[in-house]
Amino acid sequence: MNEIYIKPNLKTAQRRTKDETIIDRSLFNIPDEYKDLGFNKKYYLRTYGCQANERDSETIRGILELMSYIEVKEPDLADLIIMNTCAIRKNAEDHVFGEIGQLKRLKYTNPDLMFVVCGCMAQEEEVVERILKTYHHIDIIFGTHNIHRLPELLIQAHFNKERVVEVYSKEGEIYENLPVIRQQNTKAWVNIIYGCDKFCTYCIVPYTRGKERSRLKVDILDEINTLIKDGYKEVTLLGQNVNAYGKDLVEDYSFAELLEDVAKTGIERIRFMTSHPWDFTDKMVDMIAKYDNIMPFVHLPLQSGSNEILKLMGRRYTTEEYLRVFDQLRNKVKNITFSTDIIVGFPNETEEQFEDTIKMIDYCKFDNVYTFIYSPRAGTPASRMEDNVTLEVKRNRLKILNQKVAQYALLNNKGLIGSIQNVLVDGPSKKNEHVYSGYTEGNKLVNFVPKNAKTGMIVQVKITSANTWTLKGEEISS
Ligand code: SAH
Ligand code: SF4
Ligand code: F3S
Repeated sequence: MNEIYIKPNLKTAQRRTKDETIIDRSLFNIPDEYKDLGFNKKYYLRTYGCQANERDSETIRGILELMSYIEVKEPDLADLIIMNTCAIRKNAEDHVFGEIGQLKRLKYTNPDLMFVVCGCMAQEEEVVERILKTYHHIDIIFGTHNIHRLPELLIQAHFNKERVVEVYSKEGEIYENLPVIRQQNTKAWVNIIYGCDKFCTYCIVPYTRGKERSRLKVDILDEINTLIKDGYKEVTLLGQNVNAYGKDLVEDYSFAELLEDVAKTGIERIRFMTSHPWDFTDKMVDMIAKYDNIMPFVHLPLQSGSNEILKLMGRRYTTEEYLRVFDQLRNKVKNITFSTDIIVGFPNETEEQFEDTIKMIDYCKFDNVYTFIYSPRAGTPASRMEDNVTLEVKRNRLKILNQKVAQYALLNNKGLIGSIQNVLVDGPSKKNEHVYSGYTEGNKLVNFVPKNAKTGMIVQVKITSANTWTLKGEEISS
């Protein structure tokens, strides 16, 4: 069999040059003869990981539906299974491998089933080798840089009946004009910057997603204006570090200025994710405070409360600098809420260093914290560090941290009882159609008794009770 594999290479993936980013504006087109490749065929798409992957899956959907495939929610019904994977921690990967193994059975009942693995795991050398060696039922592997090549890869695998591996390890381009089928019709993800150049010592993302490359202002604003015309109420501006937006552009244009321009489009709600504390500027704080349609909610990953650990992590800020941004936001932005990410058990983390993290939690009293046990990732500097902390100790620290986090989340939520919140309605809740759910400006999930509420409306809800992660309330008549 004639198989040409293009495999990932982590060394190449970490290279960064000063070359200008290429923006591909060619109109996406499927050759006529292949538009029916998916006729009468169904696809099942499973997405793991962060919003970047969610957004990529929307592009994959767009491409597949142009090829006449129809989406199904059950892998058992599918002729094409695509797993859009995440590489951030080992347990995320184990989960995917478990699922890939489990779904193998479907090949026996449907030998024509096409099985595809893409996303961040596909960018890892080790993973691709493991799939090639052990998981013979995988037909196509492609990476994060060549989603636009999906039609060709499907055609190749389909007609040549051969396994296709095409993963590029490169800094990356920007593809405008790719098709998209969004998951929701009131809230949309909008990419503003791809990739990451921070190279935090524990993190795989800079290797799987390429360099930081900002979309042009005009493309972002065009997309948002179209979303407004289509009735969307909320956009979330996406990037591994949105604060770095614009730094790679020829034009002198920063994230603060982009925020202002997006606010001026008049879209009802603007969120952004993620902000690295290192380059959070005063101007950004001022913009968030100035515009009512920029939501008073910031995800500001701390990672650790110890300056020694932050240094080893390569995070480029101290806890003092973190607090300067945090306090400034808290003082200037009315009713602001915060979430953060914490890693416990970084190599050789001492009890005192862990205590320093707890002290920061006590000070910041976050509304939500995503907590993780450090997971070594092949090819990253931290994975080469020796580690004297046992898994048992790490698990225990995670438990203590989670208890603290839940305590403050509940306390903050209880503080909202009796208040009136603007809630963007997601629709009837999954469990009970007489109860509606939606999010407050501060990003809190509210289940409420509706009066006039319809999906996509912003209604006023009086908060009547609070749980750790959700609020309850009643819609009040306007
Ligand atoms: N760009 C974002 C983070 C994206 S990854 C930022 O810098 O804030 C989301 C979170 O996963 C990180 O904030 C970190 O807390 C966690 N994470 C990343 N790599 C990890 C690893 N190797 N082990 C454990 N957690 C990790
Ligand atoms: Fe990973 Fe750090 Fe980049 Fe975030 S900023 S994606 S943690 S390297
Ligand atoms: Fe995971 Fe890739 Fe996102 S590793 S967190 S899916 S950028």
